[in-house]
Amino acid sequence: MSLSVIILAAGQGTRMKSDLPKVLHPISGLPMLHYAIRAAQALSDDITVVLYHQADRIKDAITASFEGIAFKIQDHSNYPGTGGAVMDIETDHDRILVLNGDMPLVTAEALEPLVNSDADIVMSVFDLENPSGYGRVVVENGEVQAIVEEKDCTEEQKRIKTVNAGVYVFRKEIMERYLPLLSNENAQAEYYLTDIVKMARDEGRHIIPVWVEEEAFKGVNSRFDLAHAEEIMQNRIKERWMRAGVTMHLPRTIYIDSRATFHGDCTLDNGVTIHGETIITSSHIRSHTVVEEADIRHSSCGPMARIRPGSILEDTHIGNFVEVKKSHLKGVKAGHLSYLGDAEIGEGTNIGAGTITCNYDGVKKYKTKIGKNVFVGSDTQLVAPVTIEDNVMIAAGTTVTDDVGEGSLAISRTPQKIVANFFHRFFKTGKR
Ligand code: UD1
Ligand code: MG
Repeated sequence: MSLSVIILAAGQGTRMKSDLPKVLHPISGLPMLHYAIRAAQALSDDITVVLYHQADRIKDAITASFEGIAFKIQDHSNYPGTGGAVMDIETDHDRILVLNGDMPLVTAEALEPLVNSDADIVMSVFDLENPSGYGRVVVENGEVQAIVEEKDCTEEQKRIKTVNAGVYVFRKEIMERYLPLLSNENAQAEYYLTDIVKMARDEGRHIIPVWVEEEAFKGVNSRFDLAHAEEIMQNRIKERWMRAGVTMHLPRTIYIDSRATFHGDCTLDNGVTIHGETIITSSHIRSHTVVEEADIRHSSCGPMARIRPGSILEDTHIGNFVEVKKSHLKGVKAGHLSYLGDAEIGEGTNIGAGTITCNYDGVKKYKTKIGKNVFVGSDTQLVAPVTIEDNVMIAAGTTVTDDVGEGSLAISRTPQKIVANFFHRFFKTGKR
């Protein structure tokens, strides 16, 4: 691929009103910058991310997930602005795609028409009924003549409806020639990348506008934009999985992380939330169940269950108000009101209502092991570490503190006492 990519992410993102850098705000589970990098990786082997504000924090977040990305710290105090951001960057290829880090909805597919043109400068534009906030693009005879930032527009220019979407492909030679000529004599005293266009045009260069789909080029500047972008992302994720064979009841009420995957025949009922790198295979997740980083195979969960990170469920039924954390359940039924944490539970075992693994002593976490064909009676506490072998019965209400051997019954109960007529004496009902 003969294309280099520069991703601009040095801006402060003031309008987010957040200590977290704008480009690290998550959308469907991933920092928004991930999406721009992914789109870039599909098009190029030479990607530079420009940073300044909280540079180290953003760099750490990127290197944790991507390899081979170059970083450039912008000389922001001397050269602020989008023009300053792209100065002095070494690129491998002759054509350079400039992307914004705050465009999480952009895809390689949406960028294709820009990349496939061969002009000196190709720039993305769209038409807006209300163009406010964007740089206006002056197009004549099919070529761009200039881009005027809103703050520098005359009243007449403000009425132009064609706006700069903010993504460009430049010939390297164009950047080398015009970047050193930029000035900051404008309303924001910044070096505008967009000023290259007019200079290049004045010297007879060809600048081609490409009308792009607005949705893919939406920039996120505020938390309102963030929520809107996430909604669009959710619709894309859900459409993709429905087309791949996942049934969703009332998909508008369902949330799915962009890292989640589905295999086989799956159904998600209304209100389901799937976080993280969850894998669901041929399973039914019922209403208002929350699944986080879990692996669920041939099982059913919920309604209103919570399956937390590190859980593996195979051929298992999890009912309402059951919480499972970091546990491996195979061929298990846990129908009601239980907490199963750091547990390993074998085939044919039934977990009664109100069973609790007491896995934490305030300092450390401990494991509970339950074998095959175990009947755990209701309201059982399993004080970990504890092992229950195969074919065991645990009586309802038992507090299990010691290991239970194969074939045994474990029971710990205060013997029941009957006091006849107590009610009538206590409430003085006159009966005896
Ligand atoms: C820019 C365009 C405008 C276009 C709009 C589309 C310029 C001068 N204007 O305006 O024509 O309509 O995008 O969204 O380019 N950044 C840096 N360093 C800086 C300043 C910004 O890296 O010094 C980065 C930001 O982090 C951001 C991107 O550049 O990712 C765009 O910056 P922003 O301030 O949002 O530009 P706009 O004013 O929106
Ligand atoms: Mg912007």
